[in-house]
Amino acid sequence: MAESNLIQLIYASSAWQLLTEDEIMAILEVSRRKNAERNITGILLYKDGNFLQVLEGDEEAVTSLYRTIERDQRHKGLILLAKRKIAEREFPDWSMGFVNLDTIDPASVPGYNNILNEPFSSTAFAQRPSLATKFIEVFRRNVR
Ligand SMILES: Cc1cc2nc3c(=O)[nH]c(=O)nc-3n(C[C@H](O)[C@H](O)[C@H](O)COP(=O)(O)O)c2cc1C
Repeated sequence: MAESNLIQLIYASSAWQLLTEDEIMAILEVSRRKNAERNITGILLYKDGNFLQVLEGDEEAVTSLYRTIERDQRHKGLILLAKRKIAEREFPDWSMGFVNLDTIDPASVPGYNNILNEPFSSTAFAQRPSLATKFIEVFRRNVR
């Protein structure tokens, strides 16, 4: 059934310092629990101390979560890249998917190995030209 008031919010940020795998896992553990309670889904990418996150869900829930995340002292310099109404979720099965681009074996990300490997202009990518996947691609290529 279609959800009303569904939005997708995408932002990028920088960790204050490089985070250990354990520190990232701690963020994820809390995120997955709280997002599941609020029916929020999405994906978190990490590369060289930078984050890119996609949050999807009810407008109020996502906006309120973003306010909490903005205040989180583990990162800074948040840039809101997109906030838009969507008809369907792009990451319906992930309370918060995670891709560590520093250590990733692309084969370990079901469904996303193509996006992570294909160039922006490739046919495979063009078939899924959503805003989120574009940002994921831009992030993968440009964040150092
Ligand atoms: C990069 C980053 C992404 C985060 N993503 C989420 C998230 O998706 N969901 C969530 O509940 N908390 C997320 N958090 C953690 C929140 O900022 C906050 O610490 C957590 O929700 C607990 O909030 P509370 O102490 O007010 O309950 C994230 C934090 C960081 C640094």
